[in-house]
Amino acid sequence: MARIQITHDNSPTLLHDTLGVTYHSVFGAKGESEYVFIEQSELENRLCTQDEVKIVEIGLGTGLNAWLTYNLAKKYPETKVKYTSFEIFPLNKDILILYYQVLNDVFFADIIANFPENITLGNFETDFKYCSWLDANLPENFADIIFYDAFAPKICPELWTEEAIQQAIKTLKSGGIMTTFSITGEIKRILKKMPVQIFTPKGFGKKREMLKIIKR
Ligand SMILES: C[S@@+](CC[C@H](N)C(=O)[O-])C[C@H]1O[C@@H](n2cnc3c(N)ncnc32)[C@H](O)[C@@H]1O
Repeated sequence: MARIQITHDNSPTLLHDTLGVTYHSVFGAKGESEYVFIEQSELENRLCTQDEVKIVEIGLGTGLNAWLTYNLAKKYPETKVKYTSFEIFPLNKDILILYYQVLNDVFFADIIANFPENITLGNFETDFKYCSWLDANLPENFADIIFYDAFAPKICPELWTEEAIQQAIKTLKSGGIMTTFSITGEIKRILKKMPVQIFTPKGFGKKREMLKIIKR
């Protein structure tokens, strides 16, 4: 079960009752998603310059990153955006309706709740997969951008193993960008074995750093 919690920028997150964690930063759910995923992935630059942008997300959750991407993609109707997202524990429609009521876009609750259907909204096409990232079967060099939005390693260690991270790097195209709010010495140690450049921009809220990876 999960319940709505309003964060410091007045946008909603969910508090997961059993795990005792929120789906986003309490300092700003929308602010964090905009900064860590939309801005640091340089999504808008690709929307301006490519005919098609393929995004993969690990952890659809509330769909906030998908919603922000959809709203940005509307500015670039000539660019096709394919949004593939993995979620092992999809949220039920009632909580999604409450969540999107706060964002004044209840329509989008339907998009997330229809999961795992494929839906096309103008230039934005979803492919929501109801399975673990560990069982994903995407081709190598598929994604321009990866939003690695798993719960932190202490809560969800299986998504921060070498195997899980390596699968993401394989899925990324050369020159592709992966971002995540999570950063530990162990994650950096794993990444150093892979064909990537590692950047550590300032983190969101009280986090000192975040991770931005560019595949060589
Ligand atoms: C930090 S929260 C999601 C944030 C989400 N992007 C949002 O905006 O709400 C992490 C998500 O990863 C999901 N998750 C946990 N284990 C997973 C797995 N093995 N594969 C895919 N998703 C997983 C959780 O159920 C949760 O929805």
